[in-house]
Amino acid sequence: MTPDEFRQHGHAMIDHIADYMRDVASYPVLSRVAPGDVAALLPDEPPSEGESWDAIIADIDRVVMPGLTHWQSPNFYAYFPATTSPPAILGDLLSSGLGVQGMLWSTSPACTEIETKVLDWLADIINLPEAFTSRSSRGGGVIQGTASEAVLVTMLAARARAGHPPNPIVYCSSQAHSSVIKAAMIAGIGRDHVRLIDVDESLAMRPNRLAEQIRRDRADGFSPLFICATVGTTSSGAVDPVAAIGEISKREQCWLHVDAAWAGASCVCPEHQHIIGGVEYAESFNFNPHKWLLTTFDCSALWVQDRASILEALSITPEYLRNQASDSGALIDYRDWQIPLGRRFRALKLWFVIRHYGVEGLRKHIRRGVELATLFESQVKNDDQFELAAPRSLGLVCFRLKGDDARSQALLTRINDSGAAYFTHTRLPNPASPGEDQFVIRAAIGALQTREEHIRAVWARLQAEASQIHSD
Ligand SMILES: Cc1ncc(COP(=O)(O)O)c(C=O)c1O
Repeated sequence: MTPDEFRQHGHAMIDHIADYMRDVASYPVLSRVAPGDVAALLPDEPPSEGESWDAIIADIDRVVMPGLTHWQSPNFYAYFPATTSPPAILGDLLSSGLGVQGMLWSTSPACTEIETKVLDWLADIINLPEAFTSRSSRGGGVIQGTASEAVLVTMLAARARAGHPPNPIVYCSSQAHSSVIKAAMIAGIGRDHVRLIDVDESLAMRPNRLAEQIRRDRADGFSPLFICATVGTTSSGAVDPVAAIGEISKREQCWLHVDAAWAGASCVCPEHQHIIGGVEYAESFNFNPHKWLLTTFDCSALWVQDRASILEALSITPEYLRNQASDSGALIDYRDWQIPLGRRFRALKLWFVIRHYGVEGLRKHIRRGVELATLFESQVKNDDQFELAAPRSLGLVCFRLKGDDARSQALLTRINDSGAAYFTHTRLPNPASPGEDQFVIRAAIGALQTREEHIRAVWARLQAEASQIHSD
């Protein structure tokens, strides 16, 4: 493909994406294909000769579109939002177009220095303490692929800092994301060395239970190592008390990591920054701009107060990576802050997003999500058939039909099968029956295109489906 042909096909591709953005609300949100349907449309053999670009492009509509679940639809309320936006897409495109590897400072100084600066900006926007920025003597930020990588990297750093103690123990709440356990499995700490600490009625970690468990573990000869506090749990958006956990962590000389994968984005708004109160106790803090902050996957921002521990855990320099700039020790080589060697120029999309929307634009986006979730919450409260299953957290509303689980399960199936919207579920403790949990539907609101009209329409649809279940 010559540069001129690329220009022509590139313009057509941008047109295609712009049309998709315009029309995304018109597709059934959850893909309707059955397992194997997409693969069956592909030949068993790859083409031996290159195909025409027209033939390749024709397969977007024939093969790809039916097999998509439309994450950018204004009616996508499943999981957590994985928002994208035009400036982020253009940043990603530029990253692909430039095709650089930013593993070392010298392999593209712009890749490293823009990333460092943009993460300092983002730290300032969410009001992280100065110690997490590169302006401090010891801290700094890095873009990881995912929150799962961030927790693994910091767990490895914690172990290195502690001098690789025997029988290390990891702590998180029973509501923490499974990536904490997975990190312990990968790190060789083992899932049976992860303690899931009990939660209170708001589903936040009970600090006194954490302290008791650490005491017991020490008495039993284990080495308490790493505590993960979650700000915005996946199931219900619960917020662990970071300051109280931080006091314990400091006393016990553990590494405190704060996983704010989804909720961290809300801290661009001063009125939500209290959720990370106490973050100064944390060694590391992570949130995903690729969730609620309009930055196309993958972009997970991790800040640490002590970058030396990460380097100690992950730095290794074979001869073929040595260069004068790195040897000077005066710069950042981000390969030492992550699991892989190679890295994309992900900072471009985040830089474009922050510059295009500005801090006020980002706040507006988050505030709209919270307002719409508040509207959704009030609809739930005002309808006798429904109940809230947990207090609304920012843009997340957990709700259910009153009565047995089967009714909410049926409602979820009906609404998702209708194509009008896509919701997912979880199980949360049943306040009426201690020790039991119940089926809950999650409404995670925050897509770029979601507006009041979508919330009102989806609520009307939920009510209509619910009344069908009633009369079935
Ligand atoms: C609280 C929390 N932590 C971690 C993760 C994992 O995120 P990632 O896909 O970036 O690894 C999620 C995903 O939703 C999450 O909600």
